[in-house]
Amino acid sequence: MPHSKRKRIVLAVTGASGMPYAQTLANMLQDFCELHLIVSNAGWLVWDQEVALPREGLLDTAFQVYSQGDLAAPPASGSWRHQGMVVCPCSMASLAAIANGLGSNLIHRAADVTLKERQRLVLVTRETPLNSIHLENMLSVTRAGGVILPASPGFYHRPQTIQDIARQLCGRILDSLSLEHELTPRWGEKLLDSTDPTHQLPQNKEKITWNIV
Ligand SMILES: Cc1cc2nc3c(=O)[nH]c(=O)nc-3n(C[C@H](O)[C@H](O)[C@H](O)COP(=O)(O)O)c2cc1C
Repeated sequence: MPHSKRKRIVLAVTGASGMPYAQTLANMLQDFCELHLIVSNAGWLVWDQEVALPREGLLDTAFQVYSQGDLAAPPASGSWRHQGMVVCPCSMASLAAIANGLGSNLIHRAADVTLKERQRLVLVTRETPLNSIHLENMLSVTRAGGVILPASPGFYHRPQTIQDIARQLCGRILDSLSLEHELTPRWGEKLLDSTDPTHQLPQNKEKITWNIV
């Protein structure tokens, strides 16, 4: 599909645990979106801790890459149009900056612009446990029109691998961005192979086995 007809999505990766989500999401988005990528300095620190792949594995998914200090980049302006921004994973520090409209790096500025332009902003927050500051900040972003989508995966689709867990969460992120897809199983729809006993939705607790490797 030519890039001009694709939805333009901004993906920001910040320094919270959860880089398999970022890589999986970027892989999914690159196939049907024009992906604009910003990785914070702390984001790269955590990437190097959590992912055995070189940074190019993430960078190569993007149509355009910006540094967090580039406050003159297109996503810093509301006149540059896009169809949604996702911060995945979103640290508590970036959550705080966005909740308080700081705009002091490109990620925080782009998120602020996304909210003021009434475009979809999804924050895939990752921290546990949460203090009252985190919770208040989540409420502020929600009140401003953003979506808090915590990186808390479900297990009802019977994941077998870390990749299965990441894909399911990323499917929910695509839903929140209003991107139509059939990339992940949905409850109540027969996308799972019903002949494969390991992939049947659980009828009772005794049948559940955990095979995460
Ligand atoms: C290995 C590692 C894991 C981290 N995990 C988290 C996390 O899960 N959640 C979080 O809020 N901060 C986490 N941090 C701390 C953030 O990286 C730190 O607050 C940083 O300032 C966030 O900056 P950023 O939002 O600009 O990326 C982690 C740091 C490191 C080094």
